[in-house]
Amino acid sequence: MIIPARGARLARTAVIAVAAALAVPLVVAPPAAADAPLRVHAAARGKFIGYAANTGPLANEAAYRSIAAAEFNQVTPENALKWESTEPSDGTYTFAGADQVVAFATANNQQVHGHTLVWHSQTPGWVQGLSAAAMRTAMQDHIATVVGRYADNPAVVSWDVVNEVFDDNGNLRTSFWLNTLGSSYIADAFRLARAADGNARLCINDYNVEGINAKSTAMYNLVRQLRADGVPVDCVGFQGHLAIQYGFPSQVRENMERFAALGVQVRVTELDVRMQLPRDSTKDATQATYYRNVVTACLAVPACAGITIWGFTDKYSWVPDVFSGEGAALPWDASYVAKPAYTAVHDALDDGSSPGPDTTPPSVPGTPVASGVTASGVSLSWTASTDAVGVTGYDVLRALGAGAFAVVGTAPSPSFVDSGLAASTTYRYQVRARDAAGNTSALSPAVTVTTIAGGGGPGPGACRVAYTISPWGGSPGFTAGVVLTNTGTSALSAWTLAFTLPSGQQITPPGWSATWTQSGQAVTAAPLSWNATLAPGGSTTIGFNGTHTGGTGEPATFTVNGASCAVV
Ligand code: XIL
Repeated sequence: MIIPARGARLARTAVIAVAAALAVPLVVAPPAAADAPLRVHAAARGKFIGYAANTGPLANEAAYRSIAAAEFNQVTPENALKWESTEPSDGTYTFAGADQVVAFATANNQQVHGHTLVWHSQTPGWVQGLSAAAMRTAMQDHIATVVGRYADNPAVVSWDVVNEVFDDNGNLRTSFWLNTLGSSYIADAFRLARAADGNARLCINDYNVEGINAKSTAMYNLVRQLRADGVPVDCVGFQGHLAIQYGFPSQVRENMERFAALGVQVRVTELDVRMQLPRDSTKDATQATYYRNVVTACLAVPACAGITIWGFTDKYSWVPDVFSGEGAALPWDASYVAKPAYTAVHDALDDGSSPGPDTTPPSVPGTPVASGVTASGVSLSWTASTDAVGVTGYDVLRALGAGAFAVVGTAPSPSFVDSGLAASTTYRYQVRARDAAGNTSALSPAVTVTTIAGGGGPGPGACRVAYTISPWGGSPGFTAGVVLTNTGTSALSAWTLAFTLPSGQQITPPGWSATWTQSGQAVTAAPLSWNATLAPGGSTTIGFNGTHTGGTGEPATFTVNGASCAVV
């Protein structure tokens, strides 16, 4: 048996767990560096350490909440962002679970990774039976709505766009997605996610790809091809569902390095190490070495952003439900007592090099430089900050005219694309840098940007429309996305958007996120139940596929309930 090297800390963790379970208010002195929680050590190494959140105990179990808050600086909702959770029936969205995880993460300075947009599993039957055209529309609507909901939320920074697209041999999985849409669904999903959030990090995720093998090589080839084709794949996730009876995968670090050489970030997304039950000290020790080896590999590869553990307590683990006779896969046992696996992760992260928690903020980033100013958007870039450990990203703040600054987005690297701006309007931007310990730099000086005049709109009214066209599928085809914003001071409800399509353009029903009708070239869009009311400043993204015979010109004017909207 491996005796946990930090028995005292393990004992203290158990005491904390018990105290928390009894809901006794805790006053814990600032820990010495060696005793610090995982997130402090991870941050000192420039990495995230995350967990998969189960919304049940996250809502109502004190011991679960206290460890989740104290030990981790990143979180992936375990099920709450899967299709069956967010859109159980067509066009009916529910975000209660996802919002709960995002709120807990925000309160505890944790980053959220969205899991997952397009997957063959945990996707409702109504999606699986659709025709190709309807399935494509459903995918567009789903990605636009789910990603769009959190696009401006600074806590939500990354997404698993596609999950498990390979079978065990490294062929594309013959899922309903592949069977109905062909392999282009993968590139399409990434492009739609980028359209919904220009700044989130977009990942492809799979299992049994931790080491170098046929399946991970197939994934490598796909990622290389997608990037060569200009598809926005930013990140590769290795799930990391390991089992001690199958041995540790070979060449985990080398595998990360070959992906990193493609220019993508890598990460371990769902780490757990199961064993055949019952648990014993020998198995615990083997399990601990597996955890340590994964952490060590990530630490050795600069492009590895961090590690997410799939749960953290054996009390809530998917393993016993899926792998008969197996379990005990996580670093805390079912009573919230830390196991040798916890010590292994902790000590691998704690190289003793940091005298204490990182309290040094990054340097001040350079003044943003604006380029590509349009009527509705601007591209910003700035000189990067430096940090004693590592800059993890930037906050972008915007002010309207001489008004107050507020965060409008985050960026993993020193550039940002802002959109949805009003035409002929002056904005100011500042940026600040963050490190993994949550230290923020001072704000950069501001840059002032004035958007150009809009495309013939009648000027700001109580609504604003941003209309974007992109090529789509069969020819001559196009996709139109419409962002409708309530620029008034009171709620806009029961709205009907109306506009006239250029001649030769025809909507291909049904469109998404609205009820679309076309009569001649006159088009109306009426809301669905979930976007029928737009709060002041609120917006909704709706859209449709169409065909054209004479090009993809855009409507010149838009009205809502008969009143003109500004066009940006
Ligand atoms: C699992 C969850 O942990 C379970 O609660 C659920 O019943 C099934 O899915 N790969 C993935 C995860 O990408 O979404 C899976 O999560 C585990 C395997």
